[in-house]
Amino acid sequence: GPIKSSLIDPDGGALVDLVVPEAEAGPKAVEAESLPKVRLTRIDLEWVHVISEGWASPLKGFMREREYLQSLHFNCLRMEDGSIVNMSLPIVLAIDDETKEAIGSSPNVAILGPDGNSVGILRSIEIYKHNKEERIARTWGTSAPGLPYVEEAITPSGNWLIGGDLEVLKPIKYNDGLDHYRLSPKQLRKEFDKRQADAVFAFQLRNPVHNGHALLMNDTRRRLLEMGYKNPILLLHPLGGFVKADDVPLDVRMEQHSKVLEDGVLDPETTIVSIFPSPMHYAGPTEVQWHAKARINAGANFYIVGRDPAGMGHPTEKRDLYDPDHGKKVLSMAPGLEKLNILPFRVAAYDTVAKKMAFFDSSRSQDFLFISGTKMRNYARSGENPPDGFMCPGGWKVLVQYYKSLQAE
Ligand code: ADX
Repeated sequence: GPIKSSLIDPDGGALVDLVVPEAEAGPKAVEAESLPKVRLTRIDLEWVHVISEGWASPLKGFMREREYLQSLHFNCLRMEDGSIVNMSLPIVLAIDDETKEAIGSSPNVAILGPDGNSVGILRSIEIYKHNKEERIARTWGTSAPGLPYVEEAITPSGNWLIGGDLEVLKPIKYNDGLDHYRLSPKQLRKEFDKRQADAVFAFQLRNPVHNGHALLMNDTRRRLLEMGYKNPILLLHPLGGFVKADDVPLDVRMEQHSKVLEDGVLDPETTIVSIFPSPMHYAGPTEVQWHAKARINAGANFYIVGRDPAGMGHPTEKRDLYDPDHGKKVLSMAPGLEKLNILPFRVAAYDTVAKKMAFFDSSRSQDFLFISGTKMRNYARSGENPPDGFMCPGGWKVLVQYYKSLQAE
C-alpha cells in the first residue's frame, strides 16, 4: 500500500491541485473557447503555475477582494474554521478597462498564456479596483521608484483586479530544458516520502551558491543530526520566476548549482535540487514569509534564513532597502508559520585569516571580506579569481563564462 507520510501538513490541511483531470481537459478547452478572454503576462503565468500546484494552499485561484484585503492588511488568510494561514503577498491578476468591458457580466473567463494558447478558466469571478499605490506601499513599505517587480508587473498593469477559482487545463511547462527540475509540491512530497526523510530543510535562494550559503546548509544538517534526526533531506530550492535584470539568470544558476553538488560542497545523496516557480518581489521581510509558507506546502518543516532574505539595495539611496536582520526576526514571529521550524543564521563572510567562508565575528571585523554580487561581477570581468574558499572552482567557472558573455554583448 501507499507509504504513510510523516511530512508536515500543507496549509489548510489538503494540498491544492488545480490541474483538471486529463479526461476533462478536452471539454473544458472547448468551453474556454466560448468565454471572454484574459491574456496573461509571463509573470501572471508564473502565478498561475504557483497557484495551480498548491504552493499557495489553501488559495484556489487569484485573490478576490476579501482575500486581497486580508493579505494586504494582515499578511494572513482566515479559514472557515477560524484558523489562520500565512499569506503575505497578494496573488492577484490585473486587467485593463477594455478587458473588464469585454467580460461584462460573464461569471467565468478563459485565461490565455502570453503566446495566446488557452491555459485555463477562472470561475465565479469578482472584479475590483486595483489601487496600485496602496498595494505597492503596503507590500514593499515604500513607493520609491525603481522597485523591479513594480516596474515590470504593476505599473504597466491594468486598473482592475480579477479574482476567482482557477482551473488549469494542463501542467504549466516552459520548454526551456529545465522543466524536469520543476517538481510540484505533490511530487516533492512523494520524493521525500520515497527517501524516508524524517526532516526536510528548505533553502530558498536566487543567487549562485557560495561557500557561505553552503555553510548555512551544512551547519543545519549537522544540527538536525545532533537533534536526533536520522535522515534529514535538504531541499535546495532556487527561485525560478521573474528576477531583476542584474540577477544571474535561472539556466546559469542551475548549472552553477550542479557544479556545487559535483564538487561536493553539498552532498548529492541527501539533497534535492528543484525550482520554485514563484516570481520575486524583493519585498524583504514581507516576502520571506511567502517563501517560507510555500515550502511548508512542499513538505519542508525546517527553513533556513540568513542575512537580508528577499532583500535588495534601496533603489534610490545608498543603503539596504530593509534592515538585514528583520527577515529572520519577522519569520520567527510570523502568524500562521508556527508549525515551521525557523533556523536563523548570522551573516557569513570571507575570513581572510582562516581563508574560508565563516560566520562574521564582530570582534575581529577587519579580518572579514564581504563579497557582493557587484564584487563577483568585477572579479569575473577582470579575470581575477575570488579568494580561495569563496566558491568551488567548478561553480566559479560557470559564473565567469556568464559574466564574460555579458561583456561580449
Ligand atoms: S534571497 O532573495 O533568495 O533571499 P539569496 O539567494 O542571496 O537571496 O539568499 C538565499 C538565502 O541565504 C537567504 O536566506 C539569505 O538570508 C541567506 N544569505 C545570503 N547571503 C548570506 C550571507 N552572506 N550570510 C548569511 N546568510 C546569507
